This record gives sequence, structure tokens and C-alpha cells, in this order.
Amino acid sequence: MTKSIVTGAAGFVGSHLADRLLAMGHEVVGIDSFTDSYARHLKERNLSDAKGHERFQLIDGDLLDIDLDALLVSADHVFHLAGQAGVRPSWGSQFAVYLRNNIAATQRLLEAAKRAELRTFVFASSSSIYGNAKRLPVTEETLPQPVSPYGVTKLAAEHLCSLYHRVYRVPTVSLRYFTAYGPRQRPEMAIQRFLFASMNGEQVTVFGDGTQTRDFTFVDDVVEANVRALEAPADERIFNVCGGSRISVNDLIELVGETTGKPLAVQYEPAAKGDTLHTLGDNSLAQQHLGFSPKTSLADGVAAQWRWLVTSESRH
Ligand SMILES: NC(=O)c1ccc[n+]([C@@H]2O[C@H](COP(=O)([O-])OP(=O)(O)OC[C@H]3O[C@@H](n4cnc5c(N)ncnc54)[C@H](O)[C@@H]3O)[C@@H](O)[C@H]2O)c1
Repeated sequence: MTKSIVTGAAGFVGSHLADRLLAMGHEVVGIDSFTDSYARHLKERNLSDAKGHERFQLIDGDLLDIDLDALLVSADHVFHLAGQAGVRPSWGSQFAVYLRNNIAATQRLLEAAKRAELRTFVFASSSSIYGNAKRLPVTEETLPQPVSPYGVTKLAAEHLCSLYHRVYRVPTVSLRYFTAYGPRQRPEMAIQRFLFASMNGEQVTVFGDGTQTRDFTFVDDVVEANVRALEAPADERIFNVCGGSRISVNDLIELVGETTGKPLAVQYEPAAKGDTLHTLGDNSLAQQHLGFSPKTSLADGVAAQWRWLVTSESRH
């Protein structure tokens, strides 16, 4: 039986990936230390389907502490999604957390991977490595120039993956996700904040004038890219994972209002340092080599996230 390890399995994307791998018949070992990045009960809830599965095992532990050799020795694939996400808090004293969970944890995992005999090691990189690129859409060839400390740590971790691939033949593939959304989205992310505010009749805060645009990718499409990364050719190991759903924050707020039937009141605050003005990715490389093409439109994806939020909140 194929054995896959998912780090960050209790997180937003990692929990969906674990569910998908279980549905594909894999044995799945999820690793998560339930960091305080957001409430533990939300992460526990993300795992409610996987936890009952006979082929799922959860290691509640930190990548910097646990015996990784013992876990990786019999594994076929590692999906490395554990990390400290979020751009705005990455300035200042919080940077130590980003260094630890994004760079040091990745290096320790790669050290164990070089001693194991993995078929694939898929890393969750980020569009934030590009920063404010001069030309859009960005391709994998665009010069990475992150504009946030978070982006710097993701880029460093991605370089570590490429380095261990070159030097030790660890079969790494890096997927640069462009703003994932959908059910279980982290509570501080825009769509989740907007839907939640609409549900509770609260005002939302927008940083900047709302004309900034984002390239959103529905979580099932991100998961699909991870699965397809198992077939990545030997000579192409870094891919943009983007959905072709570019929208401005102001238009997104309107879409959320249409979806919930309750228009949102908006308060504008100065733009936050480290926020990218526009993100737009070119996914031709992933289309060509992984056969990846996103399936979910923004309207359908936001509606799915709204249905999930209403159902999950009514249960708590
Ligand atoms: N969600 C997005 O839009 C997006 C975009 C680009 C990149 N990414 C990357 O994808 C990955 C998953 O993102 P997400 O939105 O699901 O985040 P998330 O915060 O929901 O999940 C990350 C999980 O990793 C765990 N974790 C952190 N440090 C750990 C450690 N040292 N040991 C064990 N577990 C640890 C956390 O407890 C958390 O449950 C992250 O690496 C993130 O940087 C996400």
C-alpha cells in the first residue's frame, strides 16, 4: 500500500489533502504540532473525517522534535505543508516563529528525507516569493523578490528543497500556491473573514483601497496539483498553482455579499507592509507537465465555502 506523510495535516490545505489521499487508498500519516497560529479546536475539526479512518494515523508532534527517520523509512511520499502561514505578522519579533517553522523544520525534514528512499517530496511554496513583480502574470522564471519576511522564509525553504534535490537527489517538487480558499480556510484569511462578518452582520476591514487583486485557487484544485505532482518529470520541479480567478478585493466583497445575500459594510485602513499589490500567475508549466487545470470558478468556490461555514457554525 502507498504510504504518504502529510505535514501540517490539521491545517486548512493539509487536512483536505489527507482526506483526498485516504480516498485514493493511501495509508496516511499526518503530522501536526497544533501551533497557536489559530485555535486548536478549528484544527481538530479539520481532521474530523480523517481521524475516523482506519488508514489514518496522527502524530501530534513538532517537526523539530520528533523522530523523523522512523517515520520516513517506510514512506513513499512526503507532502510538506506544515509551516507558519500569514504575511502581516511576519515582521518584528514573530519572525523567529517563521524561521523555526518554515526554514528550520524544512531543513530537518529534508535531512531525514535524504536518508529515506522516497518517491516524491512535495513542498507547499507560495506566490509570496514573487513580491511585486514588474510583469504579470508571473511565470516560474520570474525573479523572486519577496516583499514580506514570510515570503523570504518560504523562498529559503524552497531553495533548500532544490538544493537537497541537486545534491542528495531528494525528489523534491515545489508548488507555489496562489491564495488558496474554500471550506476550512484559515480564520484570518480574507474570504473567511468576509463570509464570517456577513454572517454576523459585522463590518469588514480592508487594508489599502481594495483595488489590489488576488489570483485565488480553490482548495480542491490545490489538492489536485499536489496529487499530480507525484508524476512530475525529472527536469521540471517547480510549478505555479493558480486558478485563473483574479479579482480585486472590492469586487470580492461584492461577490461575498451576493453569495450570502447580505452586503458588507467596509472600513478601509492603510495598506499593510508586506502585502503584494497584485498577484497573477501563469500556470502553463503545470498544465503542460502535470496536466493541471483548475476546475472551480470563484463564484462556485465562494458558495461552497459559505455552505460549509453555515453548516459548521450551526454545529458549534
Ligand atoms: N493557504 C494559502 O493560501 C497558502 C498559500 C501559499 C502557501 N501556503 C503554504 O501552504 C501550507 C499550508 O497552508 P495552510 O493555509 O493550510 O496553513 P495552516 O496554518 O492551516 O496549516 C499549517 C499547519 O502546520 C502546522 N505546523 C506549523 N509548524 C509546525 C511544526 N514545526 N511541526 C508540525 N506542525 C507544524 C500548524 O499547526 C498548522 O496546522 C503552509 O506551508 C503555507 O505557507 C498556503
